[in-house]
Amino acid sequence: MKQSRSEFWSGEEYDAQYGNYYSDEISFFQDLMLHRNVLSLLDVCCGTGLVTITLSKKLSHAVGIDFSRSMVDFAKSKSSNISNVTFYEKDAVSFDLKSVFDLIIMTGNAFQAFLSDTDLSSMLENVKKHMHGNSFFVFDCRLPCPKYFETTHNYEYWSSYTSYSGENVDVYGLDSRHPTLSNTMLHRVRREYENGMQYQSYIELKYRSIDEIGDRLEQHGLQLVERYADWKKTPLTESSTSFVGVVRPL
Ligand SMILES: C[S@@+](CC[C@H](N)C(=O)[O-])C[C@H]1O[C@@H](n2cnc3c(N)ncnc32)[C@H](O)[C@@H]1O
Repeated sequence: MKQSRSEFWSGEEYDAQYGNYYSDEISFFQDLMLHRNVLSLLDVCCGTGLVTITLSKKLSHAVGIDFSRSMVDFAKSKSSNISNVTFYEKDAVSFDLKSVFDLIIMTGNAFQAFLSDTDLSSMLENVKKHMHGNSFFVFDCRLPCPKYFETTHNYEYWSSYTSYSGENVDVYGLDSRHPTLSNTMLHRVRREYENGMQYQSYIELKYRSIDEIGDRLEQHGLQLVERYADWKKTPLTESSTSFVGVVRPL
């Protein structure tokens, strides 16, 4: 079972809502690129290329893949005048670019999109296939903890943002446990536009512990070599609710 694409229905709206939140990720990667010999980048589940496009300025080439057409189309249109970036509409579970990259990244907690162990395994196998002996794979992921498993009975106000067309949008969410998948939340989302329009979507998020993720990585010849609580490199503790992992081939 795949994560619903309904939440990623518009690249323009995605950037309007989240476009300003990636400075920590970008600093993290720029620091890594400065200290290691990173010339090529593969961004798996790249969305609209918020991170890919910014990082490409310091690289020989960058590639982004994502299975939501609207996200990839917007990434392509934003980078149409940049020659060293390419975006493809592809599923991370089944892609083969027939090349290797110095750095592979997965941001925005997209790691939680791989709902079944089979899909997670296929994605990790593909990541490994696109690495050479000195490549890095870096991703972020929320961790299973009570606050992420809280449920609500009604839609509750989450946040507001200014849409691509300049209107105020209020975002409401209804949180429940997924009816059939373990350690998975199902979030229903409703966006209410100033002009009365509404957009409804939903998204499933799978939660795995660091130990489980570490085991899965090892099964695919990958090893967690650094772990942090966030992109600012805050040390990970027992009470951390998310983590950033730096992975190398075993
Ligand atoms: C939360 S967004 C993050 C996008 C981008 N990495 C960022 O940080 O802005 C998650 C993205 O994962 C993509 N995605 C989910 N499952 C995927 C899969 N199996 N293959 C490719 N893309 C996938 C979605 O289409 C969406 O664009």
